[in-house]
Amino acid sequence: MNDITSSSKVPVHVSIIMDGNGRWARERGQERVMGHFEGVESVRACTEAAVEAGVKYLSVYAFSEENWNRPDTEVSTLMELMAKCIENEIDTFMKNGVRMVVLGNRARLGAALNAAIDGCMEMTAGNSVMTLIIFLSYSGRWDILQAAQKLALEIADHPERRESLGTMDTEDFGNYLVTAGIPDPDLIIRTSGELRLSNYLLWQGAYSEFYFTDTLWPDFRKPQFRAALEDFARRERRYGKVK
Ligand code: IPE
Ligand code: IPE
Ligand code: MG
Repeated sequence: MNDITSSSKVPVHVSIIMDGNGRWARERGQERVMGHFEGVESVRACTEAAVEAGVKYLSVYAFSEENWNRPDTEVSTLMELMAKCIENEIDTFMKNGVRMVVLGNRARLGAALNAAIDGCMEMTAGNSVMTLIIFLSYSGRWDILQAAQKLALEIADHPERRESLGTMDTEDFGNYLVTAGIPDPDLIIRTSGELRLSNYLLWQGAYSEFYFTDTLWPDFRKPQFRAALEDFARRERRYGKVK
């Protein structure tokens, strides 16, 4: 146990924009996909570190809606890798009490990957030590749009609910997002030195603390994850108020 576990400053939800796999591979004269393979080890390490620290939700941005615009070979390799990893990790998830959830535009994923996801989500549904959320084919704007569409369809089907729109608050609207029931991320980490959100949790990240590091994702392991938690523990969150 490290120091931070005993403090009340452990984030409930840590989210990671895993970036820099391609550069990591290129630096070694390898194909970009080698970086993705190595990045899987970082997901494993951070999952373990998060469980050890007492984090309740760890989420990772694995593939954005915009990533569909990458070359076909990279996309298909990533999709195959995703399916394989999800299947391979089930035993570890069960051993460590990790519930796995995939969120995103699943309609764009292939049948084999969707089957692997469903299998793993069903198997791990009862685990309660930590929830690992994989954002796959996700984007923040897509999430807000699908929430608005769901809401509009609901009102069209139930016109008597129309009046409730006037009293709807942001918490109510949050229930239409794919993250319904999941607390907003306390800490969003981005690796590889890029200082942007890349269409990630636009709504949910409204009051997240940000941690940017130059470390490339395949090099981001337990010590780096713990360093981010330690940094978070020193932050003062004000939510617009005066301290
Ligand atoms: C992150 O690494 C993984 C995905 C976005 C799928 P990148 O593939 O973006 O690697 P860089 O940023 O090109 O180095
Ligand atoms: C963001 O990384 C998406 C994921 C980590 C899944 P990108 O590498 O796709 O982001 P940009 O293109 O540099 O903004
Ligand atoms: Mg990138």
